[in-house]
Amino acid sequence: MHAYVHEWVSLLLRWTHVIVGIAWIGASFYFIWLDNHLKPPASDRGDDPRSVGGELWAIHGGGIYHAQKYRLAPQVLPVTLHWFKWEAYWTWITGFALLVVLYYANAEVYLIDPAVRALSPGQAVGIGLAAIFGGLVVYEGLCRSPLGRNDRALALVLAVLLVGAAWGLTQVFSGRGAFIHFGAILGTLMAGNVANVIIPGQRALVRAVTEGRAPDPAYAARAKQRSVHNTYFTLPAVFTMISGHYATVYGHAQAWVALVLIAAAGALIRVWFVQRHKQQAHAAVLIAGIVALAASAALVAPRSAPPGTRSTNPPAAKFGDVRAVIAQRCVSCHAEKPTQTGFTAAPKGVLLDSAELIGRHAVQSHQQSVLTRVMPPGNLTGMTDEERRLLDAWFRSGAKID
Ligand code: HEC
Repeated sequence: MHAYVHEWVSLLLRWTHVIVGIAWIGASFYFIWLDNHLKPPASDRGDDPRSVGGELWAIHGGGIYHAQKYRLAPQVLPVTLHWFKWEAYWTWITGFALLVVLYYANAEVYLIDPAVRALSPGQAVGIGLAAIFGGLVVYEGLCRSPLGRNDRALALVLAVLLVGAAWGLTQVFSGRGAFIHFGAILGTLMAGNVANVIIPGQRALVRAVTEGRAPDPAYAARAKQRSVHNTYFTLPAVFTMISGHYATVYGHAQAWVALVLIAAAGALIRVWFVQRHKQQAHAAVLIAGIVALAASAALVAPRSAPPGTRSTNPPAAKFGDVRAVIAQRCVSCHAEKPTQTGFTAAPKGVLLDSAELIGRHAVQSHQQSVLTRVMPPGNLTGMTDEERRLLDAWFRSGAKID
């Protein structure tokens, strides 16, 4: 019953997280696009801060829209001024809740890999939280320090720290646990930028306009810097959120390098799109992004079984032995009615409790338990290297089920 309730809590949280995340990123992409496409208005009133500095016409959903952006603010603020913040806050809240429900409540399955580091669940959760909130503190400190006044130097330092985070996380967590924490750090910085800088800056602007004062330009500069960061964090963060589907990447021995390459590719591709909005696209940026992606694909390409599982001289593997290993190491989860606590149904619908089903999932099973070793998760059922070699030998000799 508990596992069933857990499943539904996770379903509802994940669904909500994706919906509010789309609303947040969608609005953010839209406003960046809008800003970059504004044209000087037909009747420009010069540099008057109370005048419209740019406008844009668009057609959507059967209607024609006319958006105008004020240089600073209109003479009189409208009664209703829409703010965009709850999309960001709810994305973070649901994301954090999901992290707790999926990774922290099941740390032994998803977060801890004894082959990487034999952490207790308490230690793993502690390290995860420290990485997320420590990341926020370090980032805020850097942005507010003198370094924060030099955009390029700041970006360079942040990039180096993020590479360090990617490496460090893979030294303590399972591959997927490391990737999701990398994404959680980025997501927390992004939501933090909205809550700590962008929204307070907007409040200060509205206050100044209402009181007829000139707003402090420092607010606008800081908000601009943070929204630029958010733009370039977006694609890497979204990748980490879907990375749990790709054991080939997160299960690789050098997974942190692949993560860095894919994150760099995401940031570069986003740079290129923003340049393109302004009709200043540099093909080199896009090419660099594609090269980074190709390099990560080459890095994780299956060459042969990783050391330790490689069967140089495969012994004749009997299906009976393979079946016994799978029954002992896999079926507690991969059965119609799993006996492993916390599981109510076969994960990913993969059933391994008959000869025919073992044959049908041979490619996947080989990939998951030999090439990437992400199964059994956290090696909960204690699969040995010898058993992995047996599975490898069986697979390489044609995965016959007789
Ligand atoms: C403790 C429970 C557990 C055990 C034991 C276990 N698995 Fe899994 N398996 C999972 C979970 C959870 C997933 C889904 C992972 C995800 O969300 O991507 C999964 C997914 C899979 C998939 C599908 C992967 C995909 O992304 O399509 C295969 C194949 C698989 N396991 C094979 C095995 C094999 C082979 C063994 C035994 C060597 C095994 N599993 C042991 C829990 C388990």
